[in-house]
Amino acid sequence: MKNETAALTKKKKEGLGWIESIKGWACVFHEFLFQRFMSSHLQNPFPLPPLNHLTCIVTGSTSGIGRETARQLAEAGAHVVMAVRNTKAAHELIQQWQNDWSGKGLPLNLEAMELDLLSLDSVVRFSNLWNARLSPLHVLINNAGIFSMGEEQKFSKDGYEQHLQVNHLAPALLSLLLFPSLIRGSPSRIINVNSIMHYVGFVDPDDMNVVSGKRKFTSLVGYSSSKLAQVMFNNVLSKRLPLETRISVVCLSPGAVLTNVARDLPRYVQVQYALIPYFIFSPQEGCRSTLFSATDAQIPEHCEKLKNDDKPICTFISQDCKHSKPSEEAHNLETANRVWEKTIELIGLPFDALERLLEGEEVQRRYGTQQQ
Ligand SMILES: NC(=O)c1ccc[n+]([C@@H]2O[C@H](COP(=O)([O-])OP(=O)(O)OC[C@H]3O[C@@H](n4cnc5c(N)ncnc54)[C@H](OP(=O)(O)O)[C@@H]3O)[C@@H](O)[C@H]2O)c1
Repeated sequence: MKNETAALTKKKKEGLGWIESIKGWACVFHEFLFQRFMSSHLQNPFPLPPLNHLTCIVTGSTSGIGRETARQLAEAGAHVVMAVRNTKAAHELIQQWQNDWSGKGLPLNLEAMELDLLSLDSVVRFSNLWNARLSPLHVLINNAGIFSMGEEQKFSKDGYEQHLQVNHLAPALLSLLLFPSLIRGSPSRIINVNSIMHYVGFVDPDDMNVVSGKRKFTSLVGYSSSKLAQVMFNNVLSKRLPLETRISVVCLSPGAVLTNVARDLPRYVQVQYALIPYFIFSPQEGCRSTLFSATDAQIPEHCEKLKNDDKPICTFISQDCKHSKPSEEAHNLETANRVWEKTIELIGLPFDALERLLEGEEVQRRYGTQQQ
């Protein structure tokens, strides 16, 4: 009773404390300044074993880290599905990669499918199309993401703040709806290309869209909060998945990488960004932690070990391909559970969707029904 009263009177956390903020920013700068030194043991390109037995879906594979990831997985023999909003660009890339590869072995096994993460209808449509093949899926790489600059807060047609939708809600819906195929492909993996920036994020589960006015919205707030929400959601997902499903859940940091992610930055900042090549990874270097997470043989064992931990934590791989820890705030059990519940509500699934999908049952969806 005493504890209940204490919990009720406990003041709701409204943001990161200043010590947590300083620690978070220290981690961000540490990664930026020392990533090249810390990753000096890694080869470039990242060496991959033959992957002919794997089918991988890579979202956002027309640019940057995703593009390099898709190409390298395909060159190692994997069947790669490029899940993209611009299928024309993907087909042109496939053609170009096939030409570059000709004479080196069998043609690359690549295809493109349409997926726009700004539309939850599109996510449901994509999942339905993929699941209808009744094929196994071994690796889902939730790579696509945005860092949209400016103070202006933009919303998707589903009504969600755009960073939240593209970086967290849509990948969460995609991961859950693809469970039938991931189970068919088990042992399988869900890989989330996250960011060290989640260390400076804060999520209020009652205000995930940052519209209450308690916090001022900036693109930095939108980006870092969406990345933290993704870690928290996947922590709970990883914990709730029964061991026997043999589905590993991983979040990772690619490092600071010279890609199009900063396309909305002012031109003068982009120029400076490109002028510091010593610090910034090329996309080939930046996709190493994704390729490691998708293929390293020790990952499932490590995920299993974390499942037995008291706190729900999924594996977090750093830019130098080491097992590291997500931020302290990501360990916040109460908030992580609330983020899980709120996410399930926002993506329009029933509260017991995971358990029912694991049982092979159909679940009701709010999105994607009209077009079918
Ligand atoms: N670059 C870095 O320094 C850095 C650091 C930490 C984390 N990350 C993370 O790494 C991931 C990949 O980013 P990147 O750096 O490679 O950036 P990028 O070059 O901008 O690539 C992002 C990809 O996401 C796709 N995308 C964006 N909005 C989409 C939507 N609504 N639906 C479907 N696809 C969409 C883009 O498609 P289009 O080509 O059609 O625009 C593009 O293919 C992101 O999650 C990002 O947050 C990057």
